[in-house]
Amino acid sequence: MNDVSLREQSIVLIGFMGVGKTTIGREVAKKLYRDFIDIDEEIEKKFNMPTSEIFNTYGEKTFRKAEKQIIIDSCRQRLKIISVGGGAFMQEEIREVCLSECIIFFLDLSWDSWKERISLLIDSRPVLQGKNIEQMKKLFFDRQPIYEGHHSKVIIDDLPAEEAADYIVDSLKTAWDIHEPNGK
Ligand code: S3P
Repeated sequence: MNDVSLREQSIVLIGFMGVGKTTIGREVAKKLYRDFIDIDEEIEKKFNMPTSEIFNTYGEKTFRKAEKQIIIDSCRQRLKIISVGGGAFMQEEIREVCLSECIIFFLDLSWDSWKERISLLIDSRPVLQGKNIEQMKKLFFDRQPIYEGHHSKVIIDDLPAEEAADYIVDSLKTAWDIHEPNGK
């Protein structure tokens, strides 16, 4: 663990694509008066094009390299709320840096709830394109073990974004009060 106090550590949201990391992350940031960093958005800014175009033009490897660098730089900042793409935790170095520098919440959505969202996601998620439902299901379940590296899990199936954010903020405040009762 680094020497940043628990209250100042950045918060990282992980989970499969399209579970709501960006929406919930923005809410958490608002409630805690912190800056929000959406890693996909940062990558898109760097390349000045949408993710699908980055995949088409430069390939996934280039996307993953930029993703790693931006996440590592962001995790080393204090007091941020960071939403990372659903494939980021496939890279061990990203997992290790996030785990040692930040507090990680895994947003856990069931397959049954997730599959209802496919039509909303397909255009902007190159990793889903060209896959049939069985292949998406396999990817969904293959990815679940990589999210096991977290500090806390929130089951969000029946939770609107605002309530999920409240839950995260409340559990953070509880942890801060227990572990740093004097505000430090
Ligand atoms: C990806 C998830 C996306 C984005 C990219 C690749 C993945 O982020 O990083 O399309 O491999 O799971 P979201 O999880 O925010 O959709």
